[in-house]
Amino acid sequence: MKTMIRSKGLKKVYEGEVGVHALRGVDISIAKGEMVAVMGPSGCGKTTLLNCLSGLDDISAGKVWINGKDLNSLSDNKKTELRALNMGFVFQFYNLLPVLTAVENVELPLLLADKAKYANKKAKKALDMVGLSHRYDHRPSALSGGERQRVTIARAIVNEPDIIWADEPTGDLDTETSDMIMEILCKLNKKNGHTMVLVTHEDRVAGRAERIIHMESGVIKSDCSKGD
Ligand SMILES: Nc1ncnc2c1ncn2[C@@H]1O[C@H](COP(=O)(O)OP(=O)(O)OP(=O)(O)O)[C@@H](O)[C@H]1O
Ligand SMILES: [Mg+2]
Repeated sequence: MKTMIRSKGLKKVYEGEVGVHALRGVDISIAKGEMVAVMGPSGCGKTTLLNCLSGLDDISAGKVWINGKDLNSLSDNKKTELRALNMGFVFQFYNLLPVLTAVENVELPLLLADKAKYANKKAKKALDMVGLSHRYDHRPSALSGGERQRVTIARAIVNEPDIIWADEPTGDLDTETSDMIMEILCKLNKKNGHTMVLVTHEDRVAGRAERIIHMESGVIKSDCSKGD
C-alpha cells in the first residue's frame, strides 16, 4: 500500500516562558485510503499532531512526509499550495464565514486553488454529497449545528483532496447528528478514497475507523488496526 502520511521522530516544542513539549517523538505511517482515529486525554497533543503533519505548524525536530514529499524541504508558499490542492480540513476553528451562503463558503478552497471556473458547480455537488441540496443559499446562522458541520465537510472535500484532517468533527453534536456526520465521512472515505485522520474523544466515533491511535503526553501509546 502506498504511504500517504509519514513522520519520524516528530517533536514539537511550544517555546515560551515555560516550553511545552507537546510532541515528544512521534513515528507514524498512514497508507493511502486509510481511516485513522486519534484519541487521548485533553492536552496530550492530538491537535498539535494534526497541525504538524499537515504543515500548518512548524515542527521542532524530526521529519514529516506527505505523499513522499519532505515537508521541511518545502517553502511556506509550497506548503500552502500543497494544503490547498491536496488537503481538506474539518477543524472547529476553521469556521464558516457568516456573511457567505453555504455554496459560497464551499466555493472558497477552489478560489484559493485558482479553480474558479467550475467553483459553483463543484460546490453544489459537494453540498449534494452531504445531503444539503436544499440549503445552498442559507447563511451559517440559518443552519443547524449538524448542517453547519456538513457545510464544513463539503468545503473540505470540494477540491477532491488526498487527505482529510478532522479535529473533533462531531464535538458539539448530539448522538444522532454525530452518527450522520460519521456516516458521511465513512462513505467519502470508502467511495472517494480520501485518506482520513480524525481526532475524537468518543469511542463511538473512533469505532467507525479501521485503526485507532492512542496518544498520551505527546507520544503514541498504542496503535491498533481492526483485525489485528
Ligand atoms: N500555541 C500554543 N502555545 C503553547 N502551548 C500550546 C499551544 N498549543 C497547544 N499547546 C499545549 O500543547 C499541549 C498539547 O495541546 P493540543 O492542543 O495538541 O492538545 P489536544 O490533545 O488536542 O487537547 P484537546 O483534547 O483538549 O483538544 C497542551 O499542553 C497545550 O497546552
Ligand atoms: Mg485538540
